[in-house]
Amino acid sequence: MGTRTLVVCAACIVLAGCAGNGEGLDENGRPVEEGGGGSGVLTADFASIQANVFTPICTGCHTGAAAPLGLRLDEGVSYALLVNAPSTEVPGLLRVAPGDPSSSYLIQKLEGTAQVGARMPLGGAPLPQETIAVIRQWIAEGAQSSPQSTFPTSLRAAWPMQGAVLDGLSSIVVTADAEIDTTVLTAGTLVLMRSGGDGVLGSEDDIEVPAEIELRSLSPTVFAIRARAGEWPADVYALQISGGGPLAVTDLRAVAIDGDADGIPGGDYVLTFEVEESR
Ligand code: HEC
Repeated sequence: MGTRTLVVCAACIVLAGCAGNGEGLDENGRPVEEGGGGSGVLTADFASIQANVFTPICTGCHTGAAAPLGLRLDEGVSYALLVNAPSTEVPGLLRVAPGDPSSSYLIQKLEGTAQVGARMPLGGAPLPQETIAVIRQWIAEGAQSSPQSTFPTSLRAAWPMQGAVLDGLSSIVVTADAEIDTTVLTAGTLVLMRSGGDGVLGSEDDIEVPAEIELRSLSPTVFAIRARAGEWPADVYALQISGGGPLAVTDLRAVAIDGDADGIPGGDYVLTFEVEESR
């Protein structure tokens, strides 16, 4: 009995300490353990928010090809899907509007003031006010990413995932893991094709899909690709970004991206996915 009381009190102290100094909490409301890149102390930088909030609390749902509203919050793609990315529920708001926490949909969802849907984390205890304050501060200070040193630079689709089958799509979101030279992203280095209805890419009836590129972040470079018609007819699609040949996308030192992710600069990045007739 005495031991039990002691244990309960120890937990109280840990929790109180947590609320006071802004440490991250796991899904059970306990302070986050060391590991996974987090220091255990939540600070107003993206790596810390990822390690102490998104990874332990949000990725129970916001991960994989079925992530709610296409919002994956896993490390490596969360930044691309948050910063300057429109909300699905309230398309007039950005999920994270750098410099403007109050009109960032992420904050509204965490504070429970959003016009649509539930407070996040869905079905769980709201984040402590101190934790939300740290995320607000990160946004107020410009919502910078945490510096990474990767070589060579590779690309990753934040949405949709490689090979995904989707009901619908608003845009493809691609992130590099560092800054790339965006001036060559247009004119020939990026091609979006669809199979023309037979499901077979690389055949004569393939159709090029006119696309628009919208730059969302410079470092790391994040861009969204929209079909110019605003429509994605049901079909099999391939996005190809050139990492070789006469015209390649390069990093800031003019070294070609590692498109095929083999660890060596060069090679094309190819993303294939399928849009189904929406039911
Ligand atoms: C139990 C599953 C679950 C958990 C955990 C969860 N979410 Fe969600 N999230 C959802 C669902 C489902 C929706 C869509 C329905 C709604 O908004 O109520 C959603 C919607 C959102 C949206 C709106 C996206 C948009 O584009 O409009 C944001 C932002 C969000 N969640 C952030 C978070 C954050 C940050 C966390 C962690 C603190 C989190 N969620 C934890 C299930 C979850």
